[in-house]
Amino acid sequence: MNVPVVELCGISLIYPGPPEVAALRLCDLTVERGEYLTVVGPSGSGKSTLLNIVGLLDAPTAGRYLLDGIDTGRLSDGQRAALRGRRIGFVFQSFHLLPHRTALENVALGMVYTGVPSRERQRRAREALGRVGLAHRLHAVPSRLSGGERQRVAIARALAAEPSLLLCDEPTGNLDSGTANAVLGLLEVLHDSGLTLMVITHDSRVAARGTRTVVLEDGALKQDAHLGTSSSHAFRPKKGADESSMGGSGSA
Ligand SMILES: Nc1ncnc2c1ncn2[C@@H]1O[C@H](COP(=O)(O)OP(=O)(O)OP(=O)(O)O)[C@@H](O)[C@H]1O
Ligand SMILES: [Mg+2]
Repeated sequence: MNVPVVELCGISLIYPGPPEVAALRLCDLTVERGEYLTVVGPSGSGKSTLLNIVGLLDAPTAGRYLLDGIDTGRLSDGQRAALRGRRIGFVFQSFHLLPHRTALENVALGMVYTGVPSRERQRRAREALGRVGLAHRLHAVPSRLSGGERQRVAIARALAAEPSLLLCDEPTGNLDSGTANAVLGLLEVLHDSGLTLMVITHDSRVAARGTRTVVLEDGALKQDAHLGTSSSHAFRPKKGADESSMGGSGSA
């Protein structure tokens, strides 16, 4: 059975205000295992709100959210946090690395709340840093790393817990275009190895690197289309993701 990683059904989120803001309105979205979904939309359209809901940082006002088939609406706060720690990896625009910790420590500390034993955390941290090409920089602190290397440490930290979904908010927003391309190349390699990705961006070039793009407009998902014609990934179904999933999830 192929359970989608993310299934949103009629998700709405209203910030109470005053004034009330309907940040998301009746959003339906399915992300199949192995997909590389990008979400675009203008400032204020609800992208970060959507990321917060999918990342279990916030709960919707209405609707249902299944993560790996688990109905997240039925969970206690503690259960939601545990599920988030085990199944979601986060990558943000500004890296969020601890400045006085080495790359290895930053990655290992990212697993502290996942229940992984300490020795295994060390092993996984080394392995994850190897995956992002930083095996030679394990003991460097962030200030001794380039911007692209810092983001790769952040990606390694997100990967180390072996999440179901890598959730990225403007992952190249603080990088020059050459470095940004290298990071996007890394995300593609990870995708090719089977990782499921959801990348939020206002940059259409970043969006085009995914296998599918949805557009948020004023809190509603407006489109659900392949836009990535310049990408080698365009129109190519991934292993584990059936054809119907590629264009099959709802727009509002
Ligand atoms: N905590 C909050 N309380 C009230 N309204 C909020 C809150 N956070 C966001 N909003 C409003 O919800 C809407 C969606 O905001 P959101 O941050 O999701 O947009 P975004 O697409 O991420 O924008 P940007 O590209 O500028 O980051 C906006 O109208 C915003 O003003
Ligand atoms: Mg935002």
